[in-house]
Amino acid sequence: MADRVTNITELPLDILVLIFPYLDAKSFLALCSTCKALQQPSIRLDPAYWSYATRSTFRVPNQPVVQHDGLRWQSMYRRLLTQSRVYTWGSNTHHRLGHSYQQAPVVRNPTLPRLNRFFHKTHCSFPTEMERTRELGIIADLQCGGWSTTLLTSKGALYTAGVLNGQLILSTAPAQDHLHALRFPVGYPYSTAAAAYDEPTIAIRQFSAGRSHILGLSDSGRIWSWYHVQKAGLHVKFLNIDLQDASLVDVTDGKPSLYGNVKQVVAGWSCSSAYVYGTGIIVWEPVSRAHNEEETDAMLVLESAEVPKTGYQRTKGASRESDEDKALREEVGVVLNYIILEHFVVFVTDLGKVFCGRFGEKHRIDDILELRQLRNESGSPSDVQGSFRRFAVFKQGEVITAHHDYLEACWNARTTNPEQTDIEGLKKIPALQHNDVISVAFGDFHFLALHSNGSITAYGTELQSCGALGLAGDGSPEGRLRGIAYNGFGHDGKLLPHAYTHGRQVWFEPEKKEWLKHLMNGGKDRDEAQERMQLFSSDRNVQGEVSEWIEQEGREWDKAKGEDGLGAYFALRVSAAGWHSGALMLVNEELADKAHEYDWRNKSFPRLKLSDGREMPGTVPFDEWRFGRPEWQLDVEI
Ligand SMILES: *[C@@H]1O[C@H](CO)[C@@H](O)[C@H](O)[C@H]1NC(C)=O
Ligand SMILES: *[C@@H]1O[C@H](CO)[C@@H](O)[C@H](O)[C@H]1NC(C)=O
Ligand SMILES: *[C@@H]1O[C@H](CO)[C@@H](O)[C@H](O)[C@H]1NC(C)=O
Repeated sequence: MADRVTNITELPLDILVLIFPYLDAKSFLALCSTCKALQQPSIRLDPAYWSYATRSTFRVPNQPVVQHDGLRWQSMYRRLLTQSRVYTWGSNTHHRLGHSYQQAPVVRNPTLPRLNRFFHKTHCSFPTEMERTRELGIIADLQCGGWSTTLLTSKGALYTAGVLNGQLILSTAPAQDHLHALRFPVGYPYSTAAAAYDEPTIAIRQFSAGRSHILGLSDSGRIWSWYHVQKAGLHVKFLNIDLQDASLVDVTDGKPSLYGNVKQVVAGWSCSSAYVYGTGIIVWEPVSRAHNEEETDAMLVLESAEVPKTGYQRTKGASRESDEDKALREEVGVVLNYIILEHFVVFVTDLGKVFCGRFGEKHRIDDILELRQLRNESGSPSDVQGSFRRFAVFKQGEVITAHHDYLEACWNARTTNPEQTDIEGLKKIPALQHNDVISVAFGDFHFLALHSNGSITAYGTELQSCGALGLAGDGSPEGRLRGIAYNGFGHDGKLLPHAYTHGRQVWFEPEKKEWLKHLMNGGKDRDEAQERMQLFSSDRNVQGEVSEWIEQEGREWDKAKGEDGLGAYFALRVSAAGWHSGALMLVNEELADKAHEYDWRNKSFPRLKLSDGREMPGTVPFDEWRFGRPEWQLDVEI
C-alpha cells in the first residue's frame, strides 16, 4: 500500500470533484484556499460545482448554452445573494406588470376639476421594477403568461401579478393587489411563509407559465396546475401513467433509476405537458374545477397523450436493449429539451437532431418528423426555445429562428419531400449569430434575446406602442431614436431593418431615458438642430442610422464593470408573452450609481455623415462613430 493520505489535498482530483457537491459555497471556497493546487481556476471556478451550487441553492434554471462557464456561475451565485431584482415592461392591462406606474397627468386646463389625479398607465416602454418583490427574498425565476407575470422564489414559492385568463375577465375590472401567492388546497400549508415551503410536496422546483395556466413541479416530483390566481392549485395525476415520487427513487445496480420521475413541466399555448423519464413527453388538457368541486385538491387526467419516440434513455448495459430501443437510440436519441407551440411540439435530442410533431384532436400526436435542415452531422447537441408561433434553435453560436408556418410546410411535405429541400422559413438574424445569445423569449409580436454578458436585445413589433420592446418611447418621439418606426392609426411600433444587424439593447439606467428626452427636445441647441431633426423624422434611412449611432453611445455608457466582470445591470433571465416582457436582473447598485459619467446634458442632436454620402445639415461638428459605421444588412425579414 502506498503512503497513507494525510491531507485531503493529496487526494487525486477525480476523487475531490466527487466531494465538492457535498460542500456549501463557503466550505468549497475555504477548501480551495488551502493550497495552490486548488487555487487554479479549473478547480476554483469548476463550472460543474458552481452551476450545481447556484441551481440547487437558488432554484435557478439551468442555461445549457453557458453550462460550462464557471466564472459566470460563480459571479451569479455571489450576486444572487443580495442583488436579484425583477423588471417588467409592455402592456399593463390586468396589472400584469406588477407595478402601477402611476403618473400625475399633465393638467392642461387648470380650471377643470382635477379628476383622475393619478391614473393607471396601461403602457410602459421602459423596464420598471415590480413592486413589493424585494420583500420576497431572492427571486430565482420569472416567466410571463398571456396576461400575467409569475415569480419563483429561492424558497420554492410562486407569486403572480395579473390574471391567468384575460379572456374571462374584463380588463376594466377593479385593480387587484399587485402580487398573489399561488395557493394549495385545504390540507396543505396555505401560507407561502418560508416554513411552509420546507414541505417537499409543495415547494416548487421548476415552473412554466403557459398562455392561460401555470404548471409547477414540486421537490417531491408532484405536478401542480393553476388556472386562476385566486384559486388553489390542483395536484395532477394520470390514469395511464405512474409517476414516481422523486424521494422514492428505485436504486438498481447502485444507480438510481429515474423511471417515472418528472424531469420538467412545460405549459403551452393551450395544453399542459411534462417530460417523464422512461415515458417521454406527455400532453394533456389543462385542468380546472367545475363549480361544485371547490373542495377538490387533485385531478385525475383520464386522457393524456404521449408524444411518440420521446421516451428513450441511455442505459449502461446496452446489451439488454431491445431492438426497438436500439432503433430509437439511432434514429431519435434522448430528448434534451422541448417546447410547446400553438399547434406543434418541438424537441432537440442528444444526437443533435431537432424534431416536431403536430397536435391532432385532443392534443394527440401520431408521428414525429425530423427537421432536416436543422440537423448537424457533427451531432453536437443544441437547444430549442419558443412559444405561441415562433421558436429559435441554438447551434454552436448560431441562432436560427422560424415561424410555425415553416413547421406546417415541413409537416405537409412529409411524404412528398421528406428531405425538406428548398422549404423556406429558417432565418438567421445577423445580431443573433455568434453573439453569445443564451436564450430567446417570444411574445406574440416581439422577441428578446439574452446575451451571456447579461445584456438583452429586442426585436419585432409592439402593437399600439405597448412598449413590449422595452426600448423607451411610449409611442412618443423617443422610441424613434431607438429605431422604432410608428405606423398607422393603431400607432404600431416596428423596429427598422437597421436594428437587426447589431440589435437594440434594452436599457435599465433611468438616466438613459432622460438622455433620449434631451435629444428629442433638440439637444443643446434646438434651433441649430431643427433641420436635422426634420430629416430624421421624415427619412427612415436617416432614422435608422441615427438610432445606430445612439446604440453605440449607449453601449459605451455601460462599459463600467464590477470586480466580477459583470455590468451594473446583469440580466439572468428574460421572458416574454403576449404584449409584455420581463427580466430577472442582478443589480449592482453601487456600480449603477457610479456609472453616471456620460456627459449627455451638453450634447447636440447627432450630426452624421450618412452611408449614402449625404451630410446631415447643421453647424456643429460631425459626430464620430465609437465602433465605426456598420455595414448594415437591410434585407432582414422576420
Ligand atoms: C455543424 O456544425 C459545424 C460547426 O459549427 C458547422 O461547421 C457545420 O457546417 C454544421 N453542419 C451542418 C450540416 O449544419
Ligand atoms: C454584451 O454583448 C453584446 C453582444 O455581444 C454586445 O453588443 C454588448 O456591447 C456587450 N455589452 C457589454 C456591456 O459588454
Ligand atoms: C459643454 O461644452 C462646452 C464646449 O463644447 C465646454 O466648454 C463646457 O465646459 C461643457 N460643459 C459641461 C458642463 O461639461
